[in-house]
Amino acid sequence: MASKFSLDRILQSQGFGTRKYCRGLIDDGEVSIGGEIIGDYRLGMDTDHLIFNIFGEEWTYREHLYIALNKPANFECSRKPSHHPGVLTLLPEQFSWRDVQPVGRLDHDTTGLLLMSDDGPFIHAQSSPKRHIPKVYAATTHDTVTPELVERLLSGVQLHDEPGPLAAITCKKLGDHQLEIVLEQGKYHQVKRMLAAADNHCVALQRVAIGGLILEALDLDEGEWCYLDAEQLALLVPA
Ligand code: URA
Repeated sequence: MASKFSLDRILQSQGFGTRKYCRGLIDDGEVSIGGEIIGDYRLGMDTDHLIFNIFGEEWTYREHLYIALNKPANFECSRKPSHHPGVLTLLPEQFSWRDVQPVGRLDHDTTGLLLMSDDGPFIHAQSSPKRHIPKVYAATTHDTVTPELVERLLSGVQLHDEPGPLAAITCKKLGDHQLEIVLEQGKYHQVKRMLAAADNHCVALQRVAIGGLILEALDLDEGEWCYLDAEQLALLVPA
């Protein structure tokens, strides 16, 4: 829906700094729209399809951010990373100002598809255990993938501190040391702990899909990110 806001407020909402700082940017002639420098911060603008240029870079107004990141190893999803840089350092600085957060977490050494957003209800809905969204992982194992291993993961393994066994939705052997495992829950270290409980060991883990959103289809190198459009967001639904 189109809304009219003053330009300083718009820039603030997009993560360019405090309202005062944004007014300064406008006063300094750093902001243009359609090739024209806008020097009056009071000017009311429709946010619908608004594209502005700031510091020579083009930005599209977005009420909320929905982002897919191909997470590399050695980045932490925590808000206060302790041993490795945080995943937010892979995104433009403005996104931190907008309070963009990872939707759920991947371990620091897990790679692959990570959603990030500044839309609280979206984050909450996506992370809810009640919403059974399949998450697809490709795991590399230390010991050989046997039919028994696949069978144990499918029938359920008991993890420490869990009330009952946890089972994979689907699980298939991809190679001698490779398997694809699909989970609906997102318990702490779940794939690694399930593999350990089934007497194997996970040596590398990649999340390759969430619901119908497939990492490969996004064509992102490790460390790259993209905005998700409405069609892609519609793929993040329970199976
Ligand atoms: N399971 C794990 O063990 N680690 C992850 O990062 C995600 C799922």
